[in-house]
Amino acid sequence: MCGIVGYIGKRRAMDPLIEGLRRLEYRGYDSAGLALLQDGSIEVVKAVGKVSSLQEAVAAHWPDEATSKVGIAHTRWATHGPPTVANAHPHVDGDRRFALVHNGIIENYLALKTQLQRRGRTFYSDTDTEVLVQLIASCYEGDLVQATAAALKQVEGTFGIAVLCRDEPDHLVVARRGSPIVLGLGRDETIVASDVSALVAYTNQVIYLDDDDIAVITANNVELRTIDNVPVSREVAHIDWDTTAAEKSGYEHFMLKEICEQPTAIANSIRGRLDDTLGTAILSGLDLSQHDLALINRVVIAACGTSLHAGMMGEYFLEDLADIPTEVEQAAEFRYRNPIIGPNNLILAVSQSGETADTLAAVREAKYKGGLVASICNVVGSTIARETGRGVYLHAGPEIGVASTKAFTCQVTVLLMLALRLGRTRRLSREMGLELIEELRRLPDMVRTVTERAPAIEQAAKRFHDAQGMFFIGRGYLYPVALEGALKLKEISYIHAEGYHAAELKHGPIALLDEHVPVVALANDVPGRSKVIGNMQECRARHAPVIATATDGDPDVAQHADEVIWIPRASRFVAPVLTVVALQLFAYYFARERGCAIDQPRNLAKSVTVE
Ligand code: AGP
Repeated sequence: MCGIVGYIGKRRAMDPLIEGLRRLEYRGYDSAGLALLQDGSIEVVKAVGKVSSLQEAVAAHWPDEATSKVGIAHTRWATHGPPTVANAHPHVDGDRRFALVHNGIIENYLALKTQLQRRGRTFYSDTDTEVLVQLIASCYEGDLVQATAAALKQVEGTFGIAVLCRDEPDHLVVARRGSPIVLGLGRDETIVASDVSALVAYTNQVIYLDDDDIAVITANNVELRTIDNVPVSREVAHIDWDTTAAEKSGYEHFMLKEICEQPTAIANSIRGRLDDTLGTAILSGLDLSQHDLALINRVVIAACGTSLHAGMMGEYFLEDLADIPTEVEQAAEFRYRNPIIGPNNLILAVSQSGETADTLAAVREAKYKGGLVASICNVVGSTIARETGRGVYLHAGPEIGVASTKAFTCQVTVLLMLALRLGRTRRLSREMGLELIEELRRLPDMVRTVTERAPAIEQAAKRFHDAQGMFFIGRGYLYPVALEGALKLKEISYIHAEGYHAAELKHGPIALLDEHVPVVALANDVPGRSKVIGNMQECRARHAPVIATATDGDPDVAQHADEVIWIPRASRFVAPVLTVVALQLFAYYFARERGCAIDQPRNLAKSVTVE
């Protein structure tokens, strides 16, 4: 998704703008640009490609360093119109009085564009964003914030914007609806961004805008109101991590760093949340009494992508440990299918970014239908976390790699703790709770054991790196892991990989198997193992190479596999976390051997904030 940075303050704006764009690169983009307010005029420089291309264009445009202290910048993930310089942001009006950067989609932009063209305005790009800046120009009567609010009230769709006006050089105007905007409050400087990683180098005091907030920003002040001109105040949040957390720290890729961080990330997710007296989990962010928890008669988990796979683990945990009927919904389906929601249904949104548009919409639909909503998010203060008003943060630290890894294992860990918490308000005994707690406490070390087996996993990946298609099969608790393993491989190596229930192969997909289509079979020693071994034999009978995951010491699996990835012995609740770490490493080394752009895979964005 697009990235926005704005700056006003004591420094040359160029530096925090470029630094901010670099920290937003992980979001995925295909062009970039910036605008500076310099000596009463707006100067704009844009480039197709990476931020480095923009820096070359900037050096050519300003041979001497630009001294402006006010500016906006943008990385564009193309929605309307191809990645070209003309379509890159910032966009300006015809008189170059305004410059604007935008994240989101203006759904009624064509109707607005026609109106503006009839009023004589000329357009130079294919974008919806240019319509917005021209609309602001048409509403301008000497007050930028009023003109911006008037324009936004005509807009249907989503926006996170920052606007400059050459006649009002001492402030920026920002606004949001559906696309996040965060304000960084520095000393004699204010930085605006799409997410915290772009401004954490300058301050750890931030304000998150809510939908339909608009703000006038100077170097030392933020004046907040709604687009209906109603003054509002938003709490100042404190960011508990610094720039080093968002650095590679010697790893070749963020993805590998984040895979190897998982022992620490999981330990942070668990810290302070296990009660050895009552044999339960302490999840105070749920803000629900024992009585409220006991009344929950159904759980619906809404999520997308990797978070959806984590949600599938939650379904198994909650039904197995807490006897609560649970279903997992792809958020985009849930939001549009008029779901049946009752007052004692818990609708749980699972989202690393806390900004995924479909998951946010699912939360709003569930709230509208009177359901009890909660979230499991990684980004503190994210929109989904704020709009649910209750939930559990992962504390996994910033996840920069587009392919989600540590967020997934922390989501699964939190879902297991949630099932423990709810189970202990029902039939789950204290003894069983203590057993689970003991295994959760060992989980970080067991994950570390898997990461230490990376060399063997790398060999398996290299052996099959030229495969053009691959299946991942599992049963029971390992079925969602098969789906997640396939998604990881798809995302970063660009080959077709399918996750399937192991029993499903015979119902069609087995027709695709031959010596060129390896199958990853999850045959750990958990319920379903013997059937998976049978499925492995079916695959090999069709000459498909088999890469199996197996529990340390298993005497049977190896004879039915071409490669074995060994996983420490663990219960059905914890084995999925260990196994997925191995599959993350498999996908990583597979893609690395193929020379793929692992941290920023083509076409992908870290947070899908549009439908
Ligand atoms: C996973 O590797 C992908 N990056 C993607 O599927 C992601 O999980 C999905 O877009 C949901 O994002 P969220 O967890 O931030 O809501």
